[in-house]
Amino acid sequence: MAHALYPGSFDPVTYGHIDVIRRASALFDSLTVAVLNNGAKSPLFSVDERVNMLQGVCHDIPNVKVDSFSGLTADYVTLNGYNVIIRGLRAVTDFEYELQMAQTNRKLAPDADTVFLTTSLEYAYLSSTTVKEVAYFGGDISKFVPREVEELIFKKFKK
Ligand code: PNS
Repeated sequence: MAHALYPGSFDPVTYGHIDVIRRASALFDSLTVAVLNNGAKSPLFSVDERVNMLQGVCHDIPNVKVDSFSGLTADYVTLNGYNVIIRGLRAVTDFEYELQMAQTNRKLAPDADTVFLTTSLEYAYLSSTTVKEVAYFGGDISKFVPREVEELIFKKFKK
């Protein structure tokens, strides 16, 4: 059985992430999407808000569950017995960081392999950071995130 983990910040989840989630869920027996609780960053959304958003957008995919974790991805992988780590690759600019992370995780959690899914072309430019910036200046983000996520982002910026 192959149990995959897709770790990330998901601040917020975008159509690019959802594309990776759907494709990874079709490849593996189960997929856990896990939000990193990273005290070093100041995210727009709390961990609970990000978990709720992910649960909302993944509710129709039966083998996907959503969780959160703190600390090293490799420790979370080992503790829960995942054998695959999923990461999306958008462009060559992602590669160096992702390669380093995959190799580090392989040393720390030798029973798991990182599998990269190349982002579908229509989402290759997309990032959570861009979405937040466009929304901050009142731009149209409807092509980047689902409706429910769009509403939550604009609600944050109205506060
Ligand atoms: O969505 P992101 O921000 O690109 O995800 C990055 C993430 C959360 C996967 C990465 O920063 C991570 O795994 N952080 C946990 C700490 C850790 O394990 N660091 C060592 C990896 S080299």
